[in-house]
Amino acid sequence: MVFGLFKKKEPIKCKIKSTGEEFDISRDTSLMNSALKANIKWPHSCKAGGCGSCRATIVEGEGKYPASPCVPESLLHPEEMKNGMVLACQWYPKTDIVVDVELGKEGDKRGIIY
Ligand code: FES
Repeated sequence: MVFGLFKKKEPIKCKIKSTGEEFDISRDTSLMNSALKANIKWPHSCKAGGCGSCRATIVEGEGKYPASPCVPESLLHPEEMKNGMVLACQWYPKTDIVVDVELGKEGDKRGIIY
């Protein structure tokens, strides 16, 4: 059992619903940053939780927002959040996920641009 403490954790898998592309997410990296590291054309602008252009909908899987100044409620409507929409630059998956995102665009900004 003690040896399990030192076991390397497997990366989390992400599949993009529209294209079927898959990439790994390290547990200390946000969904969007992992996608960008994998050369996925994820929509983004500020990378700081202020513009909303990185929005994506989590179709399967779970994750969280770590403690940070980011307030997703300021950019996402309650109904969108209820349906799985997240700010991918601030959201960290905890399980394998399937995500719906419109790739290759700058992103539809709805908040402050830094
Ligand atoms: S890139 Fe601006 S909120 Fe995520």
